[in-house]
Amino acid sequence: MLQEMQRRHYRISEYCMQVIADLLDIHPVEVHSVVSFYSFLDESSQGQFVIRLCQTITCDMAGKSDVARQLENDLGIGFGETTPDGKFSLQWANCLGMCDQGPALLVNEDVYTRVTPEAVNAILEECRGKFGVHALTEEKEHQL
Ligand code: FES
Repeated sequence: MLQEMQRRHYRISEYCMQVIADLLDIHPVEVHSVVSFYSFLDESSQGQFVIRLCQTITCDMAGKSDVARQLENDLGIGFGETTPDGKFSLQWANCLGMCDQGPALLVNEDVYTRVTPEAVNAILEECRGKFGVHALTEEKEHQL
């Protein structure tokens, strides 16, 4: 339920937590404790595409810093930030379970491995290619 809310609205607002608590007949603080515990659930608004770059040791040794710098340069934002148009957010992630194929990152639920700085542009273009009627519909939901 929380994951679906995150997918539709790019965050889980206090209002949504209250609605979920009412549906499950539990106290809202129980819902909030789950949301605040899991790093893939966000209370604050996130972009349509959340890019989570693994910062753990193996990916670090495989060149994650160069990928991070390229992402920041191409998007014009730092980690923990969202582009002004609300399309992209950059986040750090801990091990994604792809240690033998680092650097690894997630774009929403899609995994990318052996990412190089040169590959960053293609990944971002792939995301931008998904913008369209469907994306605009999701954008409306994002504002709820
Ligand atoms: S260390 Fe990056 S995926 Fe495991």
